[in-house]
Amino acid sequence: MGKSGQVGSALLATLPRLGELIAVGRSELDLTKLDSVRRTVREVKPQVIVNAAAYTAVDQAETEEPVAFRINRDGPATLAEEALKLGAMLVHFSTDYVFDGDKGSPYVETDPTNPINAYGRSKLAGEEAIRHSGCRHVILRTSWVYAERGKNFLVTMRRLVEEGNDLRVVDDQWGAPTSANMIAKAVPRAVERVIADGSLMGLYHMSAGGSTTWFKFASAILGHATSRPRIQAIPSAEYRAPAKRPRNSVLDNSKLADALKIRLPSWESGLEDVMRELGHI
Ligand SMILES: NC(=O)c1ccc[n+]([C@@H]2O[C@H](COP(=O)([O-])OP(=O)(O)OC[C@H]3O[C@@H](n4cnc5c(N)ncnc54)[C@H](OP(=O)(O)O)[C@@H]3O)[C@@H](O)[C@H]2O)c1
Repeated sequence: MGKSGQVGSALLATLPRLGELIAVGRSELDLTKLDSVRRTVREVKPQVIVNAAAYTAVDQAETEEPVAFRINRDGPATLAEEALKLGAMLVHFSTDYVFDGDKGSPYVETDPTNPINAYGRSKLAGEEAIRHSGCRHVILRTSWVYAERGKNFLVTMRRLVEEGNDLRVVDDQWGAPTSANMIAKAVPRAVERVIADGSLMGLYHMSAGGSTTWFKFASAILGHATSRPRIQAIPSAEYRAPAKRPRNSVLDNSKLADALKIRLPSWESGLEDVMRELGHI
């Protein structure tokens, strides 16, 4: 599900390794239409459901929290109920924004959650609904997702520069920019391992290695730009976005490495790959 999103479209290339893939987007399966979600799952009878669909507009969610909850909690809750009835496994994505950002080191899966924005609350509610359903599941929390296309920070920075803008970018929020391709490559491996050993089901952090700030990420992106833009580092307080963001949302990926033997490449190498795809290296 979510075949036209950043992660969803990258998964189209990697999931066929697991077997026959039936990919659906919003027009075929709307997560807010719960009866149709139920009907479709019952008709298709998948062995594995990968849900890459979500309400991801972090700022907009502040004024549309009920919509975000319908898509990020009620939709996944219904998928989980159906997965349980079928004995299917549900693979679902969540976010670093379930944390408040006050921890001084990377977050592990057992750290207490405390989302500080509506999007984070809706995603956490989705995680909880899946956990409480009792279905076989893997929840992968990732962070700062970007791809060559789609609505993301990399695309926005490149567009602003092309339009000749000077940039002011926040330099006091830390995280790990993670390319959709990196996630998509890791998902079939994770599914195979969890199918082989059911005790490995559960919650995992899955983000690129290392960490950076939005300003440093922008500088790395624009280091590849042909025209050198003027870019200024600013504190979050000067960037008045409707939704608050955690100051630190770096995820500790040790559980993924230890239990599933999966380690995503560094964020720098993910960025290089995307820039190469775009023909900028
Ligand atoms: N983006 C990030 O920075 C980030 C960070 C951490 C975690 N995540 C999580 O990673 C996962 C994938 O995110 P992404 O970046 O690939 O998101 P994305 O590019 O925004 O794609 C989300 C997809 O969900 C679809 N969708 C939205 N509402 C729907 C509905 N009611 N019914 C069916 N489909 C619907 C969208 O369809 P349309 O194209 O029709 O709108 C879109 O294809 C999500 O669970 C997200 O919460 C993302």
